[in-house]
Amino acid sequence: MAARERLICASRELVDGGDGVRFDTDWSGATEPAFVIRFGGRIHGYLNRCAHVPIEIDWQAGKFFDFTGLYLVCAVHGALYDPQSGACLGGRCEGKGLRPLAVVERDGWVYLIESE
Ligand code: FES
Repeated sequence: MAARERLICASRELVDGGDGVRFDTDWSGATEPAFVIRFGGRIHGYLNRCAHVPIEIDWQAGKFFDFTGLYLVCAVHGALYDPQSGACLGGRCEGKGLRPLAVVERDGWVYLIESE
């Protein structure tokens, strides 16, 4: 299946450990919320669905990191996720991680790689 790139945002909109950019994506035939963040100098994309209860995790639109800026946190019950892999680090996610998405950064822009 061929892949296509969809423009999500400008690179400058993503600061390390700062606000993420929200967008929608097709996932298993449904439109699902998603987001992209920057951590460790690199971008990472995930479905915006907690592994505990499949609801959005940001505590305000675009606010995905905890106060340390080191972990992604679910606003509902506080599950913690690794920003680099989406892996569950603690709390009610109980070992289940966030669903990663294929994102790429090029020439100052951030793209989502979607299968056609
Ligand atoms: S819904 Fe995210 S920790 Fe419960």
